[in-house]
Amino acid sequence: MEANDLKIIIVDDEPNIRETLKEFFQQLGGFQVTTAHDGIEALKRISQDSFDCALIDLQMPRMNGVELLEKIHNYDNTLPVIIMTGHASLEVAIETVRFGASYFLNKPVRLGQLKNVLDKVLRERRLLIDNLRLKDQLKQKEAIEDLNKQLNQKVKEQSILFNVAESVGGLLSSEDLYPQMVALASDLVGADSSLFLYYDHDQDLLLPLATKSNGNSGTLDGIYIPVGTGILGRSAFNGHPIILNSPLEPELIAESYSGEPVMSDSLISVPMKIRDETFGILVALDKKKPGFQEDDLFLLQFLLNKAALAVENIALYESVMQNLRDTMRSLVKAIEAKDAYTEQHSSRVTELSVKVAQKMGLSEDEVVSLPFSCFLHDIGKIGIADHILTKPGRLTDEEFAIMRSHPVIGERIVRNLGLLPREKEIIRSHHESYDGSGYPDGLKGTEIPLMARIITVTDAFDAMTSDRPYRKALSVQTAVDELRNKTWIQFDGDVVEVFIQILQDEKEFILDLMGIETADLEV
Ligand SMILES: [Fe+2]
Repeated sequence: MEANDLKIIIVDDEPNIRETLKEFFQQLGGFQVTTAHDGIEALKRISQDSFDCALIDLQMPRMNGVELLEKIHNYDNTLPVIIMTGHASLEVAIETVRFGASYFLNKPVRLGQLKNVLDKVLRERRLLIDNLRLKDQLKQKEAIEDLNKQLNQKVKEQSILFNVAESVGGLLSSEDLYPQMVALASDLVGADSSLFLYYDHDQDLLLPLATKSNGNSGTLDGIYIPVGTGILGRSAFNGHPIILNSPLEPELIAESYSGEPVMSDSLISVPMKIRDETFGILVALDKKKPGFQEDDLFLLQFLLNKAALAVENIALYESVMQNLRDTMRSLVKAIEAKDAYTEQHSSRVTELSVKVAQKMGLSEDEVVSLPFSCFLHDIGKIGIADHILTKPGRLTDEEFAIMRSHPVIGERIVRNLGLLPREKEIIRSHHESYDGSGYPDGLKGTEIPLMARIITVTDAFDAMTSDRPYRKALSVQTAVDELRNKTWIQFDGDVVEVFIQILQDEKEFILDLMGIETADLEV
């Protein structure tokens, strides 16, 4: 018995025929022959082994050849079946072929003919199997291409989601978050416009926090919607997303609005929830046909989940920062309270410095960050012993050296409190001199940050025009003379000139701020 032998099953109720055929194939060689005396046994053998051809008698007890043929092909439709019968008729022949027989042989079977038929049937079977294998390979190839497409789509989706998470997660201010959200929403779903409406629970109104409009949907900025009215109002009220892809009447979208009516051919509205309460709704308008789909809902929901986390983080961050700032302010007030002579000093220096910064054309960002750090410029004094800080007379050299450490102590105190570098520089460098003779770093000219150069001037002016334990307040004129005398030595001359200009232009304000009753400001 060889591994390449062809396997044949002979099914006949007559033992003589079974044996004759078996002997014939064994003599031919290259065949493994199995016999069965009826259809039931044949099916059992076929289910246990794989065969290359079946020879089946037509008339058998229990199950005739046609029934067996049908059952075999239900099980394996590639197995060639040759039907044998002693009662041949055209009808029988047609019926067996109709049921899938490969060939029809009359009994008694002529062995020479059987060999020819068998060769032909087996050739056909090889072709059939090759054909099926090719079809199968083609299907597999298609399946792989399909999988590849799906994989590419998944990779694309993941990269979109990653980008959304990245660009929303890192934001630490509300001013950045909402514009970013609507910009991302338009890009993600390919909408013409998008807006985020905040749910004001006190007034039961939806108010726009950010909008991005390319024009087709009208101006969105003035929109306000009573919760529960119109499509958007109901989306917020129910807390359910809405997708609509048919032209909508403006009053349907928002029953009450100010500004231009909202127009749209399609709309998706997704509520943003924070701790189970609707915080607002993200709305995208106008998408090319076929409009918004479930995929878009998934993307916007993902965006909103990330944004909800960011909102909570921002709220936490802002409250921590507010808390911190309040604490810092209290510390500065505590320092000032120790010394009646320096009370309100930091507030006045802050007000004067902001005026100078504005007049010198500093950027809005710089001006905005100035008051807090300016107010804190002397916070390092918390680290100076009280007997030095409040000493009524002049300080000894040693005491003065300790006093001069307050900018460095101050910078150390605020180092890890989230201040911007330029804010920290103000605290460290507010005692530097323009000619490099100041402290703590001996910086020169424009090496000293401009905001620190401004505070150096306003700080000195306020100190000179305040009463000190060892002298009365100097007049404004004397203080101004002193500033001019030390221009380009201690002070930046440009800052001094701008400051003097402010003294002249805003006389009333300055007198009020400094608590000076009369002053000659004709400087
Ligand atoms: Fe200082």
